[in-house]
Amino acid sequence: MLIELDSVTKIYNQGQINEVQALSEVSLAIAPQTMVCLKGPSGSGKSTLLSIIGCIFARTSGRATIAGKPLARLPDRFLTVHRRATIGFIFQRFNILPALSVADNISLPLLPLGVSPKARRERVGLLMDQLAIRHREHFPAGQVSGGELQRVAIARALINDPPIILADEPTAHLDSRLSREFMQIMADLKQAGKTIVITSHDPLVTEHPAIDRVIGVKDGRIDVP
Ligand SMILES: Nc1ncnc2c1ncn2[C@@H]1O[C@H](COP(=O)(O)OP(=O)(O)OP(=O)(O)O)[C@@H](O)[C@H]1O
Ligand SMILES: [Mg+2]
Repeated sequence: MLIELDSVTKIYNQGQINEVQALSEVSLAIAPQTMVCLKGPSGSGKSTLLSIIGCIFARTSGRATIAGKPLARLPDRFLTVHRRATIGFIFQRFNILPALSVADNISLPLLPLGVSPKARRERVGLLMDQLAIRHREHFPAGQVSGGELQRVAIARALINDPPIILADEPTAHLDSRLSREFMQIMADLKQAGKTIVITSHDPLVTEHPAIDRVIGVKDGRIDVP
């Protein structure tokens, strides 16, 4: 299994008045080169679950093994190193910096890694060609179309060539044509060997033929039908 969670619990603001138990003893296993959808009502814990798989938050208890590495119970900042090598994250609103060029947005995750400018340009160029956004290379990202922006976000998630791609409600702000296009790119990435986890309740995602499994999430637990 590429992703394995065993009895993972996440409590935000533990011991404080605003304490929230977002996940309760979640166990799940995701095989390599599959595409899985996490589906559930608002507040059920989907984004929290994705953030734990994505090494953005540390869990409160339980075990997690991501790409062969058991995540020890460490402060959040120690997860960063593992995350950079393993995870490509596509955020709901894409989290693109509008004043930076398309090419600079894509290469952002490479900056802390000390990759040479030449190697950076090559890698960014390759992805811009692959995702058909080369013609927007020097445009400020704030001035490209919704579909182009979506492909910039995908290119940025792929820049480190991570084995795992995570996308949090990626189609929430896209029309149906762009949503279909997004899913086609994800299907191609799965074909190319990536493992993909998407949170969504959009039927264009949950019912897409390339989705291998829909996992229900309810009240911080896996919803067994
Ligand atoms: N940073 C945080 N601090 C405190 N509580 C949080 C935080 N993030 C989420 N929560 C709470 O944890 C619970 C699960 O939230 P989460 O964002 O994982 O749900 P979700 O299923 O992604 O919802 P949505 O469909 O609305 O995006 C909610 O009750 C939420 O209010
Ligand atoms: Mg969410």
